[in-house]
Amino acid sequence: MHDYAWVLYSHARNEKPGSPARPARPSRTRVAARERPGLPRPRGRAGRAPVSTTTGGSVRVALERRAVPLPRGPRADMQNARIRVAIVGATGYVGAELVRLLTRHPHVEIVGLVGRGRSQEPIGGTHIHLDRTGLHVDATVPDADAVFLALPHGAAAEIVPELAATGAAIIDLGPDFRLRDAADYPRWYGFEHPRPGLLARAVYGLPELHRGELAVLRDERTAIVGAPGCYPTATLLALAPLARAGLIGDLVVDAKSGVSGAGREPKQDLMFGEVNESVKAYGVGGHRHVAEMEQELAALAVAGGHGAAAGLGSDGVDFLPHLVPMTRGILAACHVRPTRSVGQRELDALYVDAYEGEPFVHLVTQPPATKHVLGSNGCRIHVRADERTGRVLAIGVIDNLVKGAAGQAVQAFNAVHGLPETAGLEQLPLAP
Ligand SMILES: NC(=O)c1ccc[n+]([C@@H]2O[C@H](COP(=O)([O-])OP(=O)(O)OC[C@H]3O[C@@H](n4cnc5c(N)ncnc54)[C@H](OP(=O)(O)O)[C@@H]3O)[C@@H](O)[C@H]2O)c1
Repeated sequence: MHDYAWVLYSHARNEKPGSPARPARPSRTRVAARERPGLPRPRGRAGRAPVSTTTGGSVRVALERRAVPLPRGPRADMQNARIRVAIVGATGYVGAELVRLLTRHPHVEIVGLVGRGRSQEPIGGTHIHLDRTGLHVDATVPDADAVFLALPHGAAAEIVPELAATGAAIIDLGPDFRLRDAADYPRWYGFEHPRPGLLARAVYGLPELHRGELAVLRDERTAIVGAPGCYPTATLLALAPLARAGLIGDLVVDAKSGVSGAGREPKQDLMFGEVNESVKAYGVGGHRHVAEMEQELAALAVAGGHGAAAGLGSDGVDFLPHLVPMTRGILAACHVRPTRSVGQRELDALYVDAYEGEPFVHLVTQPPATKHVLGSNGCRIHVRADERTGRVLAIGVIDNLVKGAAGQAVQAFNAVHGLPETAGLEQLPLAP
């Protein structure tokens, strides 16, 4: 068991204003070693060896490595075997979506929901719609095969090294393992990454772009997935075929999000009276999600045999998000000045080639609406060459809490565990 409450209370930068100081206490917990036949025994007393020690303020954590059953996932001779999953941050919006999806997942057993300061608290007390699950929230992370983290930025980076050392696959839904360059964390998120060495090993969890790397984690002792942000998911899926073809000369992304994108914590500018019947731009000149958009678009261009700039435009991604008065949904309208003239026929061929057979990406001939994907893991994309202006318009829509968060994370989890990517994610959108 990992003493979650105790570790997280040391995160002063994420402390709620006015919240009382919580006493630090030493952890006496240990993670049980689980042996796998055929693997070398871990070193040390009783077959265990200390892996890492983290000191943060008055906090000190020592965990021990257990043998990981590799490859991850149900064994062929265990048809009905379930993967034991814990959800940390279950009291938030993304955590609730994870519970909703994973309780219906055919290959998952939820062994723990984790939240700060909770002790056997029924999940229905926080998320009434989940009361029939009968699950409870506790402050400790139980022994699990996979751990989903739905925490504010900076909180996951502190605990992931210890959790990953237990052998559990980690799927982090915050930004702490999305970026490859450690210097991007102080620049975009205002904190020094405590374990920059792990960034190169983490996989950016957009399965449509990184399926192969996710599958490789199945055999790795350390498996960390940095699940993408919601805006980047819609934007990257809308632009990936253009970036790979080196066609992006100049790029403006104009995006809209519903209010659930900002999480459940009460904020004055998210109150009904502020948001209703109003649209506003925010993050002007530097929204944090630009960092992962630029990272991924540049990588796509390079993978396609072009210079990085041909993926994100010569001046970088010009991104302007808006808050709109709806609960869920993201629409990213990407305006591209291509590096050369491109017609509709060529665009259609590029996009069909990129997404044919993808279970969750659907190309549509009419501009899509967020309602078309509500509650589903789908992403609908419309791409159009404008003969008059010479520009390309690519629009992507997703549900920010499903394909933009929990659903995508489950899809990546499936890929890491050798399961069908659609497992637990086959629900149709909700309408009207
Ligand atoms: N909302 C979206 O559409 C979306 C989409 C993609 C990714 N994400 C990312 O997913 C993560 C969770 O987002 P969310 O929308 O679910 O936020 P949220 O509704 O505010 O939930 C945050 C969760 O983190 C816990 N928490 C807050 N501060 C903490 C700390 N210092 N240490 C430990 N736990 C803490 C909260 O627990 P308490 O109940 O104890 O406060 C709550 O369970 C964020 O990194 C976000 O950027 C969100």
